[in-house]
Amino acid sequence: MKRLNSQLQQDGAPLELILLIRTLLAGCKEISFRVSQGALAGVLGSTLSENVQGETQKKLDVISNQILKDTLRDSGYVKAISSEEEDTVVPCNPEGNYLVSFDPLDGSSNTEINSLIGTIFSIAHAPQWMEADDPSAFLQPGTQMVAAGYVLYGPSTMMALTTGRGTHIYTLDKTHGGFLLTHPNVQVPEQTSEFSINASNQRHWEAPMKAYIADLLAGTDGPREKNFNMRWVAAMVGDIHRLLCRGGIFMYPYDNRNPSKAGKLRLLYEANPMAFLMEQAGGMADTGTGRIMEVMPTEIHQRVPVILGSKEEVETCLSYQNKAE
Ligand code: AHG
Ligand code: MN
Ligand code: MN
Ligand code: MN
Repeated sequence: MKRLNSQLQQDGAPLELILLIRTLLAGCKEISFRVSQGALAGVLGSTLSENVQGETQKKLDVISNQILKDTLRDSGYVKAISSEEEDTVVPCNPEGNYLVSFDPLDGSSNTEINSLIGTIFSIAHAPQWMEADDPSAFLQPGTQMVAAGYVLYGPSTMMALTTGRGTHIYTLDKTHGGFLLTHPNVQVPEQTSEFSINASNQRHWEAPMKAYIADLLAGTDGPREKNFNMRWVAAMVGDIHRLLCRGGIFMYPYDNRNPSKAGKLRLLYEANPMAFLMEQAGGMADTGTGRIMEVMPTEIHQRVPVILGSKEEVETCLSYQNKAE
């Protein structure tokens, strides 16, 4: 089975990027080990602190963030990082050529129930003009990413990765510690009959989303004239992995709970990397008003509505939005 290095070389990734990705994955392997030890390692449960997003931090949020931060800072390849669990950007090597953004532990509420969690990341070039502590260099649209991916800590530890030449899925072989290419060039089916949304938020959605979901739920009796199944992992990384494996549509839409109505998911740490993976697998990723990867961020912790997955289904969902305009 092909190893990560040879696939990255075949995809034309420069040596320094390959080394950076391998460094990042060394951190993820350590997280994978800590996660697998669970209660034995005393890593479960919450801390007494909140992150800048207003969420109570889990011990594993903090541990994973620290592992990735230390690993990337020591590598020398990275000028600065931004993370869901950091208030501001973290300066690293002033001579580093790359910027890394990450969600160190996605789905952290799943830690207590031994369910799916993961790490999501993206990499961009660091501009020459940038000072290492300057957040403005992170305010680039997702189209500027040179690589993005996630590592899923499930029954197997798996990684989805793109450098802009397709999306490939690897499985960690724990006997020798290497990622092996198990699903090359994944393709998300254009049609689907499976959707993912946290339906408990229904009363907060805008009218077009309510109408779209109502039509899915109506099944063969409704205008879609087919039955739909629903899945919700409560970890985006788990839901997106399922979409890459068998298609589907995933939504965390606008809702009216906060003044920006931007939903829950973060552009830099969640929406952009997943959008890149999805597009490279033939899927679509939109905010409801435009392509996720073209959103110009105004601040590093910005949230955006997310509608992504099987192309035809995303287009159908967006058509409800357009009908309302
Ligand atoms: P995180 O654990 O990094 O804060 O992210 C959680 C996110 C995402 O993974 C998931 O899709 C969503 O929150 C779940 O939201 P609900 O609490 O509405 O289910
Ligand atoms: Mn969080
Ligand atoms: Mn997350
Ligand atoms: Mn997180």
